[in-house]
Amino acid sequence: MDQKQRPQVEVPTTPRVLIFPLPAQGHVTSMLTLAELLSLCGIDVTFLNTDHVHNRLFRHADIEARFADYPGLLFRTISDGLPDDHPRSNDRSITEVLHSMIATTKPVLNEMLVSGALGSVTCIIADGAFAGFVTNSACELHVPIIYYQPASACCLWTLLCFDDIIKAGELPIRGKEDMDRIITSVPGMKSFLRCRDLPSFCQVNDTSATKINPVARAIRQSCSAQGIILNTFEELEGPIISHIIRSFCPNTYTIGPLHAHLKHKLAKKNVSKSDQSSNSIFEVDRKCMDWLDSQPPKSVIYVSFGSITTLTRDALLEFWHGLVNSNVRFLWVVRPDMLTGECAGEVPSELLEATRERGYMVRWAPQEEVLSHRAVGGFLTHSGWNSTLESIVAGVPMICWPYFADQQINSRFVGEVWKLGIDMKDVCDRKIVEKMVIDLTVERREEFLKSTAKMARLAGESVCEGGLSDSNFDRLVEYIRLTAKEKSAR
Ligand code: UDX
Repeated sequence: MDQKQRPQVEVPTTPRVLIFPLPAQGHVTSMLTLAELLSLCGIDVTFLNTDHVHNRLFRHADIEARFADYPGLLFRTISDGLPDDHPRSNDRSITEVLHSMIATTKPVLNEMLVSGALGSVTCIIADGAFAGFVTNSACELHVPIIYYQPASACCLWTLLCFDDIIKAGELPIRGKEDMDRIITSVPGMKSFLRCRDLPSFCQVNDTSATKINPVARAIRQSCSAQGIILNTFEELEGPIISHIIRSFCPNTYTIGPLHAHLKHKLAKKNVSKSDQSSNSIFEVDRKCMDWLDSQPPKSVIYVSFGSITTLTRDALLEFWHGLVNSNVRFLWVVRPDMLTGECAGEVPSELLEATRERGYMVRWAPQEEVLSHRAVGGFLTHSGWNSTLESIVAGVPMICWPYFADQQINSRFVGEVWKLGIDMKDVCDRKIVEKMVIDLTVERREEFLKSTAKMARLAGESVCEGGLSDSNFDRLVEYIRLTAKEKSAR
């Protein structure tokens, strides 16, 4: 029988995507949301976590109940190679985690993939910070890799332009007095990008060694993969996204804000999920919701610096005084592992008293719910990308105090480009905190409520039918299905 006469037997292959986030809250949160979005569309997912993150996730988030409706979603674990008592929490520890994972996790992951221990994987969606981890086995398995970028497009674009900034002689930074100098070699940001707005990885004072951080290097490398996924939306970062597509990554899927996207798809399918389901690897304290219920509309400033930021006791006290002196009510997340350095010492009694009167402190809050609570009128944030998007979707104006990574550039865009709040940047002083809280929630309240309401509407439209994030997601699902079909035909 010649080839033409042979009956065409189509081997049915359900696509199975391996999703592998960096073991940190911000990365796990959004990639788990992506996993659920894909599962809703009938795509099987293997979600791979380090043992440490997996155990915390299953302890603190109601994962079994939340994902019970998706039999094709498998949770698998892998060791990060570190001892159980390693802190794995702040930014320095995360670099150690990454080094350990390159040495020990990478080879095991490759074995697991090739042996089929992670299921019959037809596509890999890996964290952009893990570029290079699975390249060899993806080639061996003939499956495409798409990198998920957990940070903003404006951060990614700046990282991609890093060599050009150096070539233009605009780096290194020459001391503190150089921080307000404008960087002109990043297309799309020529008039407003100062040295202090560069992602912290790019704020180098020595380019001879081009000591770019390994995470930043990986993120740059990841853009040469078959595709990238951005958790953002065209109406927010359109011009920057176009630069990325034209210059580096033609196959870009802009599908955010992911949490709003998931909410919309669940509602469309009439899947009722508790509003209280969480992706947290920290124990959520819900008592603050009762406190919020008893506060007047838009009267509270919510304060949270994410899952990694650390503070000295002095900085904590500056924030505390500033909040108290503003007389604005506040809800503040102070993680138990947040303080560094010398922590001993009495807290001034006026702070404790004022906090009892008009404040509430919590170790970890249900942030998405907090931001959409009617009592919340502002967000003092570290400008982590998830927090920024959550605030945008909820229409809450921000005061930005960036800590590291993409946060420096996110805060510049919030303040200068999107006009959704105020960029406090590198200042941590009680007078400035007080002034900015009053500016945001009283003096310039109307202005910010208008701009944030508009952007919240655009974010919502983007993930609805006909919106760009919605159609990009359809394109992504189609690509995943198509490549699975091609694999089965081989
Ligand atoms: C990190 C980086 O800091 C960030 O810049 C990068 O873009 C992603 O990884 P993180 O610092 O934790 O993340 O900040 P962020 O991206 O804002 O993520 C924090 C997540 O934790 C958010 O989804 C937020 O809702 C959640 N959170 C935070 C809570 O659920 N409760 C809290 O009390 C605090």
